[in-house]
Amino acid sequence: MKIIDNIKELKEEIKNLKGTIGLVPTMGALHNGHLSLIKKAVSENDNVVVSVFVNPIQFGANEDLDKYPRSLENDAKLCDEQGVKIVFAPKISEMYSDEKNNLTLICPPYEVVDKLCGKSRPGHFDGVCSVVAKLFNLTKANRAYFGQKDAQQLFIVQKMVRDLNFDIEIVPCPIVRESDNLALSSRNQYLTQNDRALALNISKALFNIKKLFLQGIKDTRALVDVSLKIMEGLDVEYIEFVDKNTFNFQTEADRNTIVLIAARVPESNTRLIDNINLWDEM
Ligand code: PAF
Repeated sequence: MKIIDNIKELKEEIKNLKGTIGLVPTMGALHNGHLSLIKKAVSENDNVVVSVFVNPIQFGANEDLDKYPRSLENDAKLCDEQGVKIVFAPKISEMYSDEKNNLTLICPPYEVVDKLCGKSRPGHFDGVCSVVAKLFNLTKANRAYFGQKDAQQLFIVQKMVRDLNFDIEIVPCPIVRESDNLALSSRNQYLTQNDRALALNISKALFNIKKLFLQGIKDTRALVDVSLKIMEGLDVEYIEFVDKNTFNFQTEADRNTIVLIAARVPESNTRLIDNINLWDEM
């Protein structure tokens, strides 16, 4: 496995690869969620490239860019164990020769970004789409693997690929959870013991919604009300029901619904997201 930090070398290595290329874009601090993406990519492609890049242009001014966990050595070891061919871990200056406001960016439409995570993180999805597009171009990947935990990101990247005719297949990968159902996230490292206990109520609320839906309750207002009780003590940013095909909000849940939650835990002020779909069996 090669660890590459510059674009010139990456391009040369990519040129020499034979067969299909799978890309797993990450910001590092790899956990079992990432590993499930990497394993799937390795099983479906002749070559796998994992990018490890904490992308500054997708962070807002008051967000956790500086403290975002970084562990390249361990990440590279994990990738090597999985049979990854290339870890691409560039410096910021290698990826961006200019300030964000002086770069050519890909900006998804207002309709899909002015809601859910995009609402509290203005510019976030411009940063995500722009770096993802660069990684697609640099790696010439045939497939790219994205976790369903970031459901809005996945929807927006899929839309970008359709709208701009990228020649790449986006492969969605299921959310990976701890045994107590906490969705895996690099940001879980920030949680204090109390925070972690409270954070469990996010997945508890989601699984409870699915149970109630399967019992016949479809009114989203009623489902939100019970969920907010379960999540007392958390600062809930949103709890929304969207149609998986459009990401439009719904007032009645149905078999196309994704339920999404973003909430902050009080002690570490960590913002967590999670979601559940209402079409798979429980
Ligand atoms: O999901 C992430 O970790 C990031 O948003 C991504 C896709 C690697 C782009 O920086």
